[in-house]
Amino acid sequence: MYRSHTCGELTAKDVGKKVILSGWVDRIRDLGGIKFIILRDRYGKTQIVVTPDSKAYKTAEKLNREDVVKIKGRVEKRPRDTINPNMKTGEIEVFVDEMEVLSEAKLPPFYPGDNVREEVRLKYRYLDIRGGRVLRNLEVRHKVTQVVRKYLDSHNFIEVETPYLTKSTPEGARDFLVPSRLKPGTFYALPQSPQLFKQILMVSGIDRYYQLARCFRDEDLRADRQPEFTQIDIEMSFVEREDVINLVEGMIEQVFKEVLGVELPEKFDRLSYEEAMGKYGSDKPDRRFGMELYDLTNHFKGTNFKIAKSVIDEGGYAKGFVIENFADKMSRRLGDEFSAYIRDLGLGGVVWFSIKGGEINSPTKKHLQKEYEAIKEALNAKDGDVVIISFHKDWEVLSEALGALRLKIGKEYFKNRMKGFDVLWVVDFPFLEWDDEEDRWVARHHPFTMPVLEDLEKHKDDPGKIKALAYDIIINGYEVGGGSIRIHNREIQEKVFELIGLTKEEALEKFGFLLEAFEYGAPPHGGIALGLDRLVAIITGEESIREVIAFPKTASGVCSLTGAPSKVEKRQLEELHIKLEVGE
Ligand code: AMO
Repeated sequence: MYRSHTCGELTAKDVGKKVILSGWVDRIRDLGGIKFIILRDRYGKTQIVVTPDSKAYKTAEKLNREDVVKIKGRVEKRPRDTINPNMKTGEIEVFVDEMEVLSEAKLPPFYPGDNVREEVRLKYRYLDIRGGRVLRNLEVRHKVTQVVRKYLDSHNFIEVETPYLTKSTPEGARDFLVPSRLKPGTFYALPQSPQLFKQILMVSGIDRYYQLARCFRDEDLRADRQPEFTQIDIEMSFVEREDVINLVEGMIEQVFKEVLGVELPEKFDRLSYEEAMGKYGSDKPDRRFGMELYDLTNHFKGTNFKIAKSVIDEGGYAKGFVIENFADKMSRRLGDEFSAYIRDLGLGGVVWFSIKGGEINSPTKKHLQKEYEAIKEALNAKDGDVVIISFHKDWEVLSEALGALRLKIGKEYFKNRMKGFDVLWVVDFPFLEWDDEEDRWVARHHPFTMPVLEDLEKHKDDPGKIKALAYDIIINGYEVGGGSIRIHNREIQEKVFELIGLTKEEALEKFGFLLEAFEYGAPPHGGIALGLDRLVAIITGEESIREVIAFPKTASGVCSLTGAPSKVEKRQLEELHIKLEVGE
């Protein structure tokens, strides 16, 4: 027997018991010849004591940190002055009679819990996980998936697995390809999502499908993006947008309640895409720190200030936002810094003013005093506030750049306001977006999303105005999920393909199997996919999803632990009929 208890459970109630514990040696202290050792496992830490008269003393003398040991001993109450109230087992210690080293540890590159570079943590992920932070996150992740499975099961969903070796799917990122040995010269693609399969499951009469699905996308990585990640993937038949939204609201509420004890509002707020862009310059706004954007175009009509005039005269826009209580921090230098930041995003820069003792202060006061006074009134800016303004001919470019600046300022100066959870839906997305590189319209979500049917006719000549029956769920400024009602009718589907410049042949070649399935009786259907990694990162308060994934990839897509991706043997390439152009 290796253990009668874990290292996290003994309390004063157990005093006098004979116990067996196993775990890692977390720390060793020697006080006057007595060894005080902290033993650690997943459940916690327990102090064990080896006195010179114990049979175990010889073994204890040779112990190293991170050795794995098993001990037998008796639980004793700690002397009053050594009780540790911060430890669950802080009232007791175990006096060791016997000790066995189960596995020795050599000097590790770092000790679990040490603050070291992420690359090192990822290479020795097992030491890192032992340290507790990632372990706790993995426990939370497990809890989240348990709640999700229970919730969906109780709503009649069944979990169905879909293939990993498949054909390219339409999420718009680059595919990971897997060469086929049996059909030389051909490739599987790893799924970017189970999108097409889940729709076919609806045609199959599955009615309510879910899957904790691994998805693969070869795209540039960031803190909230991994090349493989997990979706809570959902699809439902005979539903409208409201049905999907209601189901997901219930699920997210349940997760927050059971995992964090947090009650979210019964209904989540909704913003249209246009409202979100207008007020926050983002389709995934974090609203927790205020600073909404305002349209200020009217205030600059007729201005002589060169930068503003040239934009406004050409039908462009002015927008701005108020930073409350920031006048003391604001300076010319900071203004220049904001300008430089926003220049990288396509704008000319910012102008700004602050209010001190009722007076406007600004490097551009001379030129814009009248305008600033009017804006101060209109935005109800108070003493101590700062107003940031910029101009651009394109409303979206202007909104997005100011939105990015707003977020940067929020993160740098108002971190204290970024507490709690801001959950909302963004709806009424444009159906299409213009792709400069491809010089054509592309589906913003994916080409199986149902457009608003009246819009197809109404905005025939301006397809950018067509709206989609798509929705995103946003938490604290992260897009946690996205979905839509789908097209289940061939005629509409063909119209959509035409809009995105896909010929019939191309559509058939890519998605023929889905289109064919639709001809044999397709129910109206819709769904959503939530990024599990992002959801868990938000719940655990982690900035990066790497902290909630056991073995994540680095920013350059490398698995530091295994060294993947790596070269393969010539023989393997030959079997696959692959010749490399890069050096062996
Ligand atoms: P979408 O592409 O919006 O939709 O993805 C859904 C959610 O998956 C998460 N996500 C990611 N998480 C980590 N790393 C990534 N590289 C990554 N990419 C996406 C996000 C995102 O909101 N098939 C559709 C869903 C549907 O229409 O039902 C889809 O995949 O949280």
